Amino acid sequence: MNTSLTPVLKQRGRASVDFLVHFGRGSQAVRAQGDREIAAAVPDPSSLPDDLDERGRWMEDAMAASRPWRVSQAVGEWHSTMHGLIAREAFEEILPDLQPVITHFQTNGPATLEPAAPDEAAPFYWQGVNFHRTAGGWDDHPLQGYIHGEIVHRRLVEAMFPGGIFLQRRAIAGMPPRDDYARILDMGASTGHFTAALQETYPSAQITGVDLSLRALEHAQRVANAHGWGWRLYQRPAERTGFAEASFDLVASYILLHELPAEAIRAVFAEAFRVLEPGGDMIMSDVTRYADMDKLGVWRADSGARYGGEPHWREAASLDLAEVARQAGFVDVNAVGLGPRAYPHVVQGRRPL
Ligand SMILES: C[S@@+](CC[C@H](N)C(=O)[O-])C[C@H]1O[C@@H](n2cnc3c(N)ncnc32)[C@H](O)[C@@H]1O
Repeated sequence: MNTSLTPVLKQRGRASVDFLVHFGRGSQAVRAQGDREIAAAVPDPSSLPDDLDERGRWMEDAMAASRPWRVSQAVGEWHSTMHGLIAREAFEEILPDLQPVITHFQTNGPATLEPAAPDEAAPFYWQGVNFHRTAGGWDDHPLQGYIHGEIVHRRLVEAMFPGGIFLQRRAIAGMPPRDDYARILDMGASTGHFTAALQETYPSAQITGVDLSLRALEHAQRVANAHGWGWRLYQRPAERTGFAEASFDLVASYILLHELPAEAIRAVFAEAFRVLEPGGDMIMSDVTRYADMDKLGVWRADSGARYGGEPHWREAASLDLAEVARQAGFVDVNAVGLGPRAYPHVVQGRRPL
C-alpha cells in the first residue's frame, strides 16, 4: 500500500490546480496596474472616510471606471468561487488510490480524536458561514480536511504566499521564550499544519489541539498518525476547552482569531490564561492589525475579507490584541507585526507566577 498522505494528482486535476496558480500569478500585472490607478485616484489616503462601509462605497465609486481594477476584482471573484471546487474535483479523481491510506491513518497510530457531544451546538458565529467561500463551510465534504490541508493549503496557498506559509508557521512556533515545553495546547489546530510546526520545534512535548471542525481534525489525526505523533485532538471551541486549570505550559494559535467576533476573541484569551500553569507562555498570531496599515491598506484588507468569506475579520483586525491579552491577566505582553506587511501580528504573554 502507498503510505504517503501527499496527493499525487492526475493529469486533469493537476492541470486545473496549476492553472489556478498560474492564472493568479499571471494576473499580477493587471493587479499592479489597478494599484497604480488606485494610487492616482487616492493621492492622500488619510483623506478617505473614517467609516469603513462609507470608505468601501467611496472607493468602489472612485474605481468604477478603472478597467484594470475591475478585471482584477473579477479575477479575484473567480478565484474565490472556484478554488474549493477545483481542489475538490482534483481530489475526487485520486480518491480511489488514496482511500486505503486515508482509512489506514484514520484508525492506526497514536493520535486520538474526540468529537463534540451530539447535543453540543457550535457557536452562533460559526454556523452557516462558508469560511473562505468553501461551499458548505469547513465541514461540507466528508474528506474536506484532506482537501483543505493537502490541496488548498499545500498546493494553492503555499504556491501563492510569498515566503511560504509553512516556513512562517515554523518561525512562529520558535518564538516563545523556552525550548522545553512539555504540554502544549494548539487552539484552532485545524488540519494540523501549525500543530506539526509546534511538534517539530518541541519534539518531546505532548500536544493537544482543539478546533470546531471535525473534518479538519480528522485530517490532523491522519497527519499525526503518519508521523507517529500522539496528538490529543478535541472538537471543542477554543473559548471553552473543558480542560482543567493549569493543564499546559504553552498555549498557541496560528490564524484562528480572525474567524471569531471580538467577544469570542476575548473569551479565547481568558481561556488560554485559565488553562495555562502559572509561569506558562501564550503566543497567538493573526492577520495584520488595521492599526498597522494606512486607510487604503485597511480598505484593501477589509474588502478582500468581505469577498473572501471572512465575516469576522473586521472585528478581529480592529482589536488591540495586546490590550485584550493584558485584560485577560497576561503579563510581559508584547505584540509585533512580522515582515514588511506586519503579517502575521503576533502577541505573546505570560501567566504570572
Ligand atoms: C485558518 S484555520 C487555522 C489554521 C491552523 N492553525 C493552521 O495552522 O493551519 C482556522 C481554524 O479555526 C477553527 N475555528 C474557528 N473558530 C473556532 C473556535 N471558536 N474554536 C476552535 N476552533 C475554531 C476553524 O474550524 C479552522 O479550522
